[in-house]
Amino acid sequence: VLVLIGVFIISFLLGSIPWGLIISRVFYHTDIREHGSGNIGTTNAMRTMGKVGGGAVFLLDFGKGLLSGVVAMLSLWFLVPGGGLVPESGVSYAFMLAAATTGCTLGHIFSPWLGFKGGKGIAVAVGCLFMSFGVMGACVELAIFAVLVIATRYVSVGSIAAAGACPFIACVIYWGDWPAIACFTLTALVVIWAHRGNIERLRDGNERRIGDKKEEA
Ligand code: G3P
Repeated sequence: VLVLIGVFIISFLLGSIPWGLIISRVFYHTDIREHGSGNIGTTNAMRTMGKVGGGAVFLLDFGKGLLSGVVAMLSLWFLVPGGGLVPESGVSYAFMLAAATTGCTLGHIFSPWLGFKGGKGIAVAVGCLFMSFGVMGACVELAIFAVLVIATRYVSVGSIAAAGACPFIACVIYWGDWPAIACFTLTALVVIWAHRGNIERLRDGNERRIGDKKEEA
């Protein structure tokens, strides 16, 4: 259980690195939070800094998600005798990966370096899910995201739908491992909550679509 808490804390700290803000400050001499939706994530980085800046933010945010999953796996292999599954403590391999997913995504959304504010967790969660759900599971998530974004031209609609699908995919892969499924469900709920501003804008009909003219800050 101590290893689990350690993985959660390391993942939270990894997730809390605000790459969107760092890239905007260092390479574009601006604060991404003053532009577009004000979000520090990939979508707003694309709007504010273009493909190169946005792509860099995606890769770095995705990378920290991936890395937290790697930390979870390495912790099991090196720190827990027998690795893989630890029945006596009730901590499974899936639970460990789920804790890393929750820690990293929450770290990104509630970054202590930004006064416990942050991004909306999509790129990070995709990185985490590549480790937790495997390539197939993560590709199902990406497909749901892509189909909805292409169909609606709203990135947020794809993001919310992919987050909504996460608990169901977790059930398919890890049925019976309730602590792990609870972690994935909690993460999905927090990601959807982080999109509450987008949901309001969608309801009011003023959410930004891909391809809309550049908005002012
Ligand atoms: O992943 C974030 C996306 O769903 C919405 O971003 O900047 O339009 O609020 P944004």
